[in-house]
Amino acid sequence: MKPREIRPRIYWVGAIDWDRRLFDSLIPLPDGTSYNAYLIFGSQKTALIDTVDPTMKEVLENNLDELAVKNIDYVVANHAEQDHSGSLPRVLERFPQAKAVTTPRGKDMLMDLLMIPEDRFITVKDKETISLGDKTLEFIHAPWVHWPETMLTYLREDRILFPCDFFGSHLATSDLYVTDEGQVYEAAKRYYAEIMMPFRTSIQGHLNRLKDCALDLIAPSHGPIYDKPEFIIKAYTSWVFDEPRNIVVLPYISMHGSTKKMVRYFVSALAQKGVTVKQFDLAATDIGKLAMALVDAATLVVGTPTVLVGPHPNVAYAALLANALRPKLKFVSIIGSYGWGGKVVEQLSALIPNLKVEILPPVICRGLPRPADFTALDNLASSIAAKHKEHGLT
Ligand code: FEO
Repeated sequence: MKPREIRPRIYWVGAIDWDRRLFDSLIPLPDGTSYNAYLIFGSQKTALIDTVDPTMKEVLENNLDELAVKNIDYVVANHAEQDHSGSLPRVLERFPQAKAVTTPRGKDMLMDLLMIPEDRFITVKDKETISLGDKTLEFIHAPWVHWPETMLTYLREDRILFPCDFFGSHLATSDLYVTDEGQVYEAAKRYYAEIMMPFRTSIQGHLNRLKDCALDLIAPSHGPIYDKPEFIIKAYTSWVFDEPRNIVVLPYISMHGSTKKMVRYFVSALAQKGVTVKQFDLAATDIGKLAMALVDAATLVVGTPTVLVGPHPNVAYAALLANALRPKLKFVSIIGSYGWGGKVVEQLSALIPNLKVEILPPVICRGLPRPADFTALDNLASSIAAKHKEHGLT
């Protein structure tokens, strides 16, 4: 994709990665991604906002060639993660007079991660500005979006926010701006769930600070640009501030059908009591979908058989994931089965110390579920429905 003008003398110069299917050797990318970089020609100085993944540095260089860029004064590094900073060494090599502009913490991290020499940096304080002549860059420190060094860059005269990962979406698209709001909402929610949700409290503070910023465009470093910024601000506000909803997320594994029988019965019992259920077979599910479901859920119930005394490893993984993502959950429980004994409840409970939740009495049966086990499942479903109602969750 060639450079694209988003405002007079401001260009998208990034790279679209249509075929990437995994990020950090962990996160599924069903729709690819993009690494957005932006070039700003001021009347006196030129700035590049972020770079691209090192695997695509030639694309960035070609875009700079297309625009006949002879000089770059500043390369703003909003974030040290390599999908945005990985081509910074090449850009600094090609433009020897350019300085990397970042937070003090960002400088340390970029020196560690990319071996960039200290004399190539300018560090900026929160709210500090750099003039490009007729355009002014203002830097807003925003730690923990999603690393400790992160900042946002605001182009005052054009009212454009360059927030790097914040508000981003892993979505490869030929559209420069959001055209399909449903598709982008889904991709941005997935991105929030997988990457930003553990830092919800920090993000609440950053969203509050942005209320003072007049915004015409939000130009993130992944996915399309928001020409209606209120669309993504409203979505984030709901994800980080709203109470969880009347939803149970139910990831499970079944080896010989017993846990599956319990899951089927339990899902039906919950639905009959007016609770929405999102069920995931962990043998096949996309963990991004599971993470997204956790954004709004009030309750997590995991279903597991017993393997070598403990939970099935896939269920332990789901519990670890939920613990790391720190969703807004209020209640957790466990259902499942065993052959001759085990410590499923103790082991799973120990995997979720970050979740400030009430643990509801688990239902664990020996072999196939009997009538008493189905009654216990009915009771658990009633208890969840009552708890959700008590908390006014809709
Ligand atoms: Fe898109 Fe945190 O890197």
